[in-house]
Amino acid sequence: MDLKGKNFLKMLDFTPEEINYLIDLSLKLKAEKKQGKSQKAYMAGKNIALIFEKTSTRTRCSFEVAAYDMGANVTYLDPSGSQIGKKESIADTARVLGRMYDGIEYRGFEQTKVEALAKYAGVPVWNGLTNESHPTQMIADMMTIKEHFGKLSGIKFVYMGDARYNMGNSLMVTCAKLGMDFVACTNKKYFPESWLVEKCQEIAKETGATITLTEDVESGCKDADVIYTDVWVSMGEPDEVWEERINELKPYQVNTSAFSYAKKDAKFMHCLPAFHDLNTTIGAEINKKFGIDCMEVTDEIFEGERSIVFDEAENRMHSIKAIMYATLGNA
Ligand code: CP
Ligand code: NVA
Repeated sequence: MDLKGKNFLKMLDFTPEEINYLIDLSLKLKAEKKQGKSQKAYMAGKNIALIFEKTSTRTRCSFEVAAYDMGANVTYLDPSGSQIGKKESIADTARVLGRMYDGIEYRGFEQTKVEALAKYAGVPVWNGLTNESHPTQMIADMMTIKEHFGKLSGIKFVYMGDARYNMGNSLMVTCAKLGMDFVACTNKKYFPESWLVEKCQEIAKETGATITLTEDVESGCKDADVIYTDVWVSMGEPDEVWEERINELKPYQVNTSAFSYAKKDAKFMHCLPAFHDLNTTIGAEINKKFGIDCMEVTDEIFEGERSIVFDEAENRMHSIKAIMYATLGNA
């Protein structure tokens, strides 16, 4: 499998074989790290730029630790720390950074921006999240499912909540590519866009996957292996949408009732950060305004035995290592 020099911009760009290769490479790199094997030679001498136009905990730390473990150096540009977009276009920035760095991570708003960066940079560009997609999260999520279930094909994967944004889109495409049974279980206003659903249905015909959109929680969650959710209001969306989102998505909260329809050993997943209690500024504000003490998932489920969210978070680092190594590594 040769992914050298390739960008990592969205899941639609990759074949099932390439995705499975990255998942298995992530598992191998994780095992090596647990065994204490040095990985310094894998990217020794490489320089990596990390551009974040939105905030991050997991993605930034994963890229940094992955780079350090593999012997690479990083420069972090925070949401206010560069000229990008304000004084300098993406095309110009790409051509400057491409002269200095061997690879560039970019987290921002429109997918068109990361695509433009990749077009002009001349070095691999990795999408660290856009409004439309979050591909590095996909390798970590699928790696985590494989660790817990020993397989991906045939897994019933239910996504509840806002399925028309980066996470819902990317998960639907990834499940389609990997032969999984994907269900978007939510208010129909939050179904992924129809062109993408149609595209995934075409892919599913080849891979044996199924794509289902439903507003019915009981049939949606019936015999689920994994129930997944994400925040109801994403980075970059205005505060004014909170009230509408709470009203429209409350029936699709992940709670014991949703899990009562799932398989006995079903798992809970979330890309994080999550609003499951009042220990965040936004969580406390929403509680004051709307009187609810959790949003997309209850604290009981988040903290309960089905939850594998911290395995998933750890796996961000191992999988980002695999993505960088496969596209840019030495040897
Ligand atoms: N899941 C994820 O991308 O988290 P961060 O926003 O903290 O990077
Ligand atoms: N949908 C969320 C994902 C965060 C990792 C957001 O874009 O804010």
